[in-house]
Amino acid sequence: MDKKVSVIGAGMVGGTCAQRLAEKELCDVVLVDIIDGLPEGKALDLAEAAPIEGHDAHLTGSSKGYEATAGSDIIIITSGVPRKPGMSRDDLLGINSKIMKDVVSKTAPLSPNAIIIVVANPLDAMCHVAFETSGFPKNRVMGMAGALDSARFRCFIAEELNVSVECINAFVLGGHGDTMVPLPRYSTVAGIPITELISKEKIDAMCDRTANGGAEIVKLLKTGSAFYATASGAVVMAESILKDKKMIIPCATYLEGEYGINNLFVGVPVKLGLNGVEEIIEIKLTAEEEAGLKKSAAAVQDLVDAMAKL
Ligand code: 2OP
Repeated sequence: MDKKVSVIGAGMVGGTCAQRLAEKELCDVVLVDIIDGLPEGKALDLAEAAPIEGHDAHLTGSSKGYEATAGSDIIIITSGVPRKPGMSRDDLLGINSKIMKDVVSKTAPLSPNAIIIVVANPLDAMCHVAFETSGFPKNRVMGMAGALDSARFRCFIAEELNVSVECINAFVLGGHGDTMVPLPRYSTVAGIPITELISKEKIDAMCDRTANGGAEIVKLLKTGSAFYATASGAVVMAESILKDKKMIIPCATYLEGEYGINNLFVGVPVKLGLNGVEEIIEIKLTAEEEAGLKKSAAAVQDLVDAMAKL
């Protein structure tokens, strides 16, 4: 393949990202982890599935350092500790910020033109670490959250209306936490706003379920957090970038005045193409939606402030 994506962290999210990237034949994949043999084993297993799955993506695994990642077009960073039942994403701040700093300081210099997609939690705060450590411009550092959160919302809408997930669009703004702001007014079924089709109580319940979607999976799995949909979210972002599709996807993006928010990574709709975040789409919000977004941004700011004191 003429494109190369490195996936750092060969756990459930990283392994599934590698699988989806390869099976969609988007790029060659380098899978890296510090656990001896894990990335090599997963990469080999995926390579051996290729003849059956019918793709020619090359997969390489490395637990011996980051050299193999050199010259990547995209670096997807999944490394970090997932939460356990009862934990919030924010409880991972101390440990995962150290891991993020270490990974970015070792990978960014080897791929100076890469685009970084952060997946580790707490997502928005980890984007700050990646941005500051890499020194990359803001269009080349982003976080995967809105793609996942809006997919969850779309899934619940499709179930409620018994229609195809494919005809549903949904938007979720804000940080990747309990304060995220699903936007029913901008969420549509074949262009029809869901507010025309579903009662307010049901929409409120779906918004609540979306905001707590990660915790719902953690509670069920008990030993880790969501990975299938998480990987799908990261891979759709990579696909839009690698193919220059210019899809509009909600992503954690560095805002400098947009939506009245400054110097903070917060989830908003962006256009993703070869240059990464090519445009931040500003949509009109009601006073209530704007208040929700400000509250969510304040929660992200609290984490960034807490990191500065670590
Ligand atoms: C989630 O929402 C892992 O944060 C991710 O499930």
